[in-house]
Amino acid sequence: MFNHSDLARLQAQSLKMQGFIRQQTYSPEMEKTLRRFSSWEVAELIFKMNPSTLRGRLAADPSLPEGLVEEDGRQRWYTLEEINELRRKIKVKGRSLMPKRPAGKRAIRAAIANFKGGAGKSTVALHFAHAAALDGYRVLCVDFDPQATLSHSMGLSDVAEEFTVWGIMARDLIRETERMNNAPAGAESGTTLPRRTLPAAVTGMGLSDLRVADFIKPTSWPSIDLVPSCANAAFVEFASAQYRYLNPEWSFFAAVSRYLDQLPDDAYDMIIFDCPPAIGYQSMNAVFASDVLYIPSGPGYWEYDSTTSFIGQLSEALEDLGRFKGQTPGSTGVDKAFLDLKFLLTRFEPNNDLHRAMQSAFGQVFKSHVAEHPIEMTRAVEQSGRFLSSVYEIDYRQMTRETWRRARASFDRAYEEFRDTLTDAWDKVED
Ligand SMILES: Nc1ncnc2c1ncn2[C@@H]1O[C@H](COP(=O)(O)OP(=O)(O)OP(=O)(O)O)[C@@H](O)[C@H]1O
Ligand SMILES: [Mg+2]
Repeated sequence: MFNHSDLARLQAQSLKMQGFIRQQTYSPEMEKTLRRFSSWEVAELIFKMNPSTLRGRLAADPSLPEGLVEEDGRQRWYTLEEINELRRKIKVKGRSLMPKRPAGKRAIRAAIANFKGGAGKSTVALHFAHAAALDGYRVLCVDFDPQATLSHSMGLSDVAEEFTVWGIMARDLIRETERMNNAPAGAESGTTLPRRTLPAAVTGMGLSDLRVADFIKPTSWPSIDLVPSCANAAFVEFASAQYRYLNPEWSFFAAVSRYLDQLPDDAYDMIIFDCPPAIGYQSMNAVFASDVLYIPSGPGYWEYDSTTSFIGQLSEALEDLGRFKGQTPGSTGVDKAFLDLKFLLTRFEPNNDLHRAMQSAFGQVFKSHVAEHPIEMTRAVEQSGRFLSSVYEIDYRQMTRETWRRARASFDRAYEEFRDTLTDAWDKVED
């Protein structure tokens, strides 16, 4: 017979193995580092310019970063900081290489959500974040999933619970309860709310002393930060249910949105949320905080079936928020609206008849809401994952060049569509 202590023992063994894998992969620095990118990648894949034009510019201007010459001396290799410096300084036919961003707006926020497990959410979130950073954007990722896949794949595996979305939610409960208690009578929804007191177990954790920046951790990418999750954060769902009981007027679903509103508008360009495979307190926070909803789905019938239930249940959950009336003076209730909404097929095999049939079914049902470029099934995801890396992070010399190129091209096309969806939506974000 086996009980919880057997499970704990097995987990301890497995954690040891994970530690060993990280040690092997990240040595000698013992932490995740970002590789350099070759001049071929910089020109062709990142700046989309002719490699010889780039070589000419570099030769003509000694003030531009030089990169490092590899041993056989053929290519120069650049850090992302150097690439971003080149991006600021070089123009191609008068065209700036800086990424498009509407002036004076806050960062645009996208949730990658589906309650179907294994739909490809974390893979999409990771690769879009990396593609966006290579495109010159400053990215903040928020890991809402207690499995912490995104945090682990970004190299953060040792995170204290209070610095996760749970900490943000509990801090918000404390601040909101205080605000409601101090509000003049009648200011909230025209009625007097009862005074709420929170137990010392909640107020005594020191969360109200944490600052906005305390939740944000740097990653191995200089222009990607992360609000991480940790494998213990699963209790958040239980804790949040208790918090709602302590203050039923607390708009629990808006905690992360309120948190992000406190960031300076120009701190980031894109904020990407990786969601757990469930509709719960955490995913509702992600969905509520997002401007654009991206729903990845596998290309099989049961994935379509599950995605259909997901949007049904999400619709009900969002409709339910309408009863949170008067959160701000004069408001008539919460009616969450997205600036755009897309379904993205993942693990798609272009030569698979069944996949193509499902793609056309998605198209018939969801019309323009289906992303035109699915993410293809590729061994490159598995192979780079073995090195705890994305396809963008892995050095293309470590796998068959053609496999890497095809995988990268598929993620690039899907990313470019994602970016265009976001930049279109961005103009509609209120100043
Ligand atoms: N394009 C792809 N090609 C090959 N394998 C893929 C691809 N996308 C995802 N996978 C693999 O499918 C599995 C599930 O992917 P992922 O973890 O991204 O899904 P998820 O929706 O985040 O899962 P969860 O619901 O558990 O959070 C992983 O093993 C991943 O490596
Ligand atoms: Mg995931």
